[in-house]
Amino acid sequence: MPELSAAEIRDKVLALGPWFHNLDLNGVKTAPDHFLGDYPAVKWCRFAQAIPADLTGKSVLDIGCNAGFYSLEMKRRGAARVLGIDYDEGYLRQARFASQVTGLDIEFAQLSVYDVGALAERFDLVLFLGVLYHLRHPLLALDLIREHVVGDLFVCQSMQRGDPGEEPLDPDYPFSETAIFERPSYPRLSFIEHRYSGDDTNWWVPNRACMKAMLRSAGFVIDDNPEEEVYVCRPGPLPSAYGAIHPARPPAHTITRVGEVAA
Ligand SMILES: C[S@@+](CC[C@H](N)C(=O)[O-])C[C@H]1O[C@@H](n2cnc3c(N)ncnc32)[C@H](O)[C@@H]1O
Repeated sequence: MPELSAAEIRDKVLALGPWFHNLDLNGVKTAPDHFLGDYPAVKWCRFAQAIPADLTGKSVLDIGCNAGFYSLEMKRRGAARVLGIDYDEGYLRQARFASQVTGLDIEFAQLSVYDVGALAERFDLVLFLGVLYHLRHPLLALDLIREHVVGDLFVCQSMQRGDPGEEPLDPDYPFSETAIFERPSYPRLSFIEHRYSGDDTNWWVPNRACMKAMLRSAGFVIDDNPEEEVYVCRPGPLPSAYGAIHPARPPAHTITRVGEVAA
């Protein structure tokens, strides 16, 4: 592939926008006016040291990869194979262009987190960054990731809101106990019916205790918490009530949307 000029990169970046990731493509910034600053570089530098610096020979799955910022970083650390998945084809087009410009060989595929079982493969490192709160079924996603794709390391990041505290909880309480639910640091997942920050894809926002409890409940052991929203985990023992459900789906040709008639 011939090297693109700065003008050609700029034109293509404009055509592929808007961008959520502010990548640096040979000096061309893809989202210089991001509302979170130089994102996600500002986030990454706060937990980069918690992920192995040398990924030589390792496989990486980046779930909800967006334009591929983290996939590119994992490839730069020498990973043998990096697969980025996202359900949004527009973001995947950006990611493929970034991979082309940087010359980093990364696979990208359109796939929802709920379908990771279709990969039929475990990865040495799985990234699940900034996706959980965009899901209507966050715990199902964690269960499926644990059941199907995590081989060794799992790095999870979520927006968190509410009380950041934690306190020990008993494994059980009598039905008459109601006061614990009033405690600010009780594990809490806040439901957003409409929008948060103008975004109608934000559905559930955990507080810190809830994030940690959900990870444990999905069968992860939290090894490290290098940044307030980031958890470095490994697969651990599965809780007794564990088990990802796999909802049955009708064959594709019988699925209709409101207003459509089945063929
Ligand atoms: C806030 S961005 C985070 C991007 C990147 N992981 C990061 O941390 O910068 C959320 C990404 O998750 C993707 N996403 C949302 N729901 C998804 C789903 N069900 N399956 C796969 N990707 C999803 C979106 O398309 C978007 O690219």
